[in-house]
Amino acid sequence: MNTALADALLRWYDAHARVMPWRISPGDRAAGVPPDPYRVWLSEVMLQQTTVAAVRDYFHRFTARWPTVRDLAGADDSDVMGEWAGLGYYARARNLLKCARAVVADHGGSFPGTRDGLLTLPGIGPYTAAAIAAIAYDEAAVVVDGNVERVMARMFAVQAPLPGAKAELTALAATLTPPHRSGDYAQAVMDLGATICTPRNPACGICPWIHHCEARAMGIQASLPRKTRKAATPTRHGTVWIARRDDGAYLVERRPDKGLLGGMLGWPGTDWDGAGGDAPLTADWCCAGEVRHTFTHFHLHLALMVADVGPDATPLRGTFLPRADFRPADLPTVMRKAYDLASGGEAPR
Ligand code: ADE
Repeated sequence: MNTALADALLRWYDAHARVMPWRISPGDRAAGVPPDPYRVWLSEVMLQQTTVAAVRDYFHRFTARWPTVRDLAGADDSDVMGEWAGLGYYARARNLLKCARAVVADHGGSFPGTRDGLLTLPGIGPYTAAAIAAIAYDEAAVVVDGNVERVMARMFAVQAPLPGAKAELTALAATLTPPHRSGDYAQAVMDLGATICTPRNPACGICPWIHHCEARAMGIQASLPRKTRKAATPTRHGTVWIARRDDGAYLVERRPDKGLLGGMLGWPGTDWDGAGGDAPLTADWCCAGEVRHTFTHFHLHLALMVADVGPDATPLRGTFLPRADFRPADLPTVMRKAYDLASGGEAPR
């Protein structure tokens, strides 16, 4: 294999690697500092569809609270869901715990050392397995995320649209993946896509691959990768009710494990099908406005109803959580927005 292109990119990475809390810098890596598979795994799960900037604080909090996979495996589900709140994709947080527990129960507390071994763990798909195998173990796995797809589409001027072109782009990525410094290389392509080969206005002038980029030679780099037109995003409608008791307790409900916000704390509400439903207790409910939130596949508009209730209020569903145990930060973002609207932007009551 001719690794001249990979070597040019690795030289660029040696000088320009982004600093990230979970990353071993190329200099430290060359000096023999080993990556911690737990930290690599945690960061990769957090980074799926979320930006590096958004993940940093979560990563620091998780690793301070649970420094090893054994610590995480022994954590309470509700503590982990609370720390994950705001990151979105809550099924991932549940799988994170399942995976940590499987590593401890079935692998003696050490992550499997190959891509194929990693693939057997809950919540680890082809991307994550390849990323961990490359970054933690320097296996020459082909790591393809959205950034890498864009870089490959441009390098090889692939005009077929995504998502259909995925397999072709992965095969092309494999042709450039070197047998050495696999972890650094995987992260170098991702960094290239994130900082130079950006979706709009790619900074071709400073790209280490400029003279090999077919799209650049044709002047079409900014229009790649092409994407199949998506259907318009639908809007769903529902209602949530926030009841505050006079001792400061809030009526909350843990959502069932299955579904979009599965396992998360939330406000009692209707299904999101516009069919309406009954309030969780009898009270003098007032409309406090509408909460809007966008998930991957739909917009959600929730009517917000609020009420102050007395000490004898008996809910038909949910439980009153004492003020001392209620942390707004434990709520997923859409429920947090409802809380913020109900509180009128005041400090937590
Ligand atoms: N995106 C996802 N994982 C990443 C990593 N390890 N480095 C840079 N960007 C990433």
